[in-house]
Amino acid sequence: MDVSSPMTSMAAMRSFRRDSSVTGRTLPKGTVRRILGIAGPYRRELTFFLLLVMASSVIGVLTPLLAGDIVNRIARLAGNAGGIVRIALVIAGLAVIDGAISLATRWFSARIGEGVIYDLRSRVFEHVQRMPVAFFTRTQTGALVSRLNNDVIGAQQAFTSTLSGVVSNVIGLVLTAGVMFSLSWQITVLSLVLVPLFVLPARRIGKRLQEITRESYGLNASMNASMTERFNVAGALLVKLFGRPSAEAESFRGRAARVRDIGVLSAMYGRTFFTALTLVAALATALVYGLGGWLAFSGQLSPGDVVALALLLSRLYGPLTALSNVRVDVMSAMVSFDRVFEVLDLRPMIAEASDAVPVPADDRSIEFDHVSFSYPSAADVSLPSLEEVSLPEHGGPVAVLHGVSFRVEPGQLVALVGHSGAGKSTIANLVPRLYDATEGAVRVGGIDVRRATLGSLRDAIGVVSQDAHLFHDSIRANLLYAAPEATEEELWEALDGARIGALIRGLPEGLDTVVGDRGYRMSGGEKQRLAIARVLLKGPGIVILDEATAHLDSESEVAVQHALDTALAGRTSLVIAHRLSTIRSADQILVIDDGRIVESGTHVELLALGGRYADLYRTQFADGERRTVEVA
Ligand SMILES: Nc1ncnc2c1ncn2[C@@H]1O[C@H](COP(=O)(O)OP(=O)(O)O)[C@@H](O)[C@H]1O
Ligand SMILES: [Mg+2]
Repeated sequence: MDVSSPMTSMAAMRSFRRDSSVTGRTLPKGTVRRILGIAGPYRRELTFFLLLVMASSVIGVLTPLLAGDIVNRIARLAGNAGGIVRIALVIAGLAVIDGAISLATRWFSARIGEGVIYDLRSRVFEHVQRMPVAFFTRTQTGALVSRLNNDVIGAQQAFTSTLSGVVSNVIGLVLTAGVMFSLSWQITVLSLVLVPLFVLPARRIGKRLQEITRESYGLNASMNASMTERFNVAGALLVKLFGRPSAEAESFRGRAARVRDIGVLSAMYGRTFFTALTLVAALATALVYGLGGWLAFSGQLSPGDVVALALLLSRLYGPLTALSNVRVDVMSAMVSFDRVFEVLDLRPMIAEASDAVPVPADDRSIEFDHVSFSYPSAADVSLPSLEEVSLPEHGGPVAVLHGVSFRVEPGQLVALVGHSGAGKSTIANLVPRLYDATEGAVRVGGIDVRRATLGSLRDAIGVVSQDAHLFHDSIRANLLYAAPEATEEELWEALDGARIGALIRGLPEGLDTVVGDRGYRMSGGEKQRLAIARVLLKGPGIVILDEATAHLDSESEVAVQHALDTALAGRTSLVIAHRLSTIRSADQILVIDDGRIVESGTHVELLALGGRYADLYRTQFADGERRTVEVA
């Protein structure tokens, strides 16, 4: 019988497991229109799909009617046996056609569903990539990625299972109930009366299933987190040195046991659901035979009608059950779409102006003109629905820079010094437009960075920060990321300039050595030198160094410093430094404190002043100098 057709009852089951709280959500206006917009390119497929679903439903009611006809002919023993065989052949033919239709339906629904996934995925990737840095500092990457994946897949299901389910169930239900009604309204009404007997308890089971499913997701996530945290070298060491392995195992066992119990419980709930559905259908079938037989004896029904009714009945309950939860299904699908749209609607705060001009190639000056800045608040860069994967906010926006003005002439080296948290990195971030100034203007080559094309700005500026990031890819690919067109000679020239050519020549696979997280482990100093080679390859007119040697031991520091000397030669440089030799050679030193420039001048001038810089010199740089001199 059809209630036990795995597709229908599985879908109904899944539907009852869905989080029913979605029905409480209100969707912005226009969501439906936008979903139709997404479906637009698949208009042809959708039409075919719907036609096929209808055809299949028609076959679904035709077959029982034909079977009833056969029974009538047998009962009357009239006509010829050949007629019966012909009808049986028609039934067989319909079954074959129905099989073909089912394949074709799946083909169209898969085409539509996968197409929608493809469209949404590429759009979301492209869009998230354009988000400002602030967005990424607030959002946990892993959680964001899985959230987006889930929503995109939820949106796909809207087209495959939800749409096809709703359409085929509605059509099937209307046709089946209509035909049954025309055969015997009494039996149809009685069969329908039985429905709440099943659907109401099913809802309760569905609720309970939602709860325990959610609990087991949480437990699984926390077990996974425990495993990934402890089953790596650093975590394992920590457990060995400080941990209590038996207590850890105990807590793990506790969670695993609960997952086991939930598994058993949910299997039983699931089976109860199916059993109840099958049982109600079986009871109803008995009722049809009993009542139908009685009506047949009184001449109100033919034997064939009774058989047709019994067969049709099996096609009544599946769709009814599935449709009883349709609000939740449709809302879940819409909410998935809505969350994807929400991400696509997030305006990148840093976008290219429509009248943007390239940064002039011949002017490599940097200018800060009364720049004030606060980091954007959560509301500006994040999404309400992403807040669960965002980092908690520490208070409202706080002004970090206050009226900062200075100018770096082409070819000059300007050093920024100051205590940690003074705002040095923030100043450096405003130049390549990782953030936009809240007040005042930052100019590169004489034009406001907000009016410059993003591409020309990126080409004009090279940045080396504390921790250079390398993609998990070959050295060649990492370098070409900065300059896709570079030749082999240019690569080596850059590597030699960054004082790392010799090391790479010594590697068995040379430029094809894979580096990064899971590749060849470069030391901090080697990584920095590769990052410098990347900048050299790009050949920007302006170089920004943000404590490029801060995390290195003295030996690497010397090597990296040599590489940096090459990188800075002949370029406009803004250097956040903690090494005295760099600072001493600066054309100008800006002392930053609490987001303000408090002193400026050369090393000698500032020392003579005997102010903030002289303090810093005594407490920080003099020490470092001694150390470097020793190593050198
Ligand atoms: N992404 C951020 N969001 C909010 N506040 C930030 C962010 N980055 C830095 N800050 C704050 O801005 C101030 C200046 O930081 P930063 O420019 O990194 O200082 P420095 O580089 O001089 O050590 C600090 O108070 C810091 O907490
Ligand atoms: Mg910093």
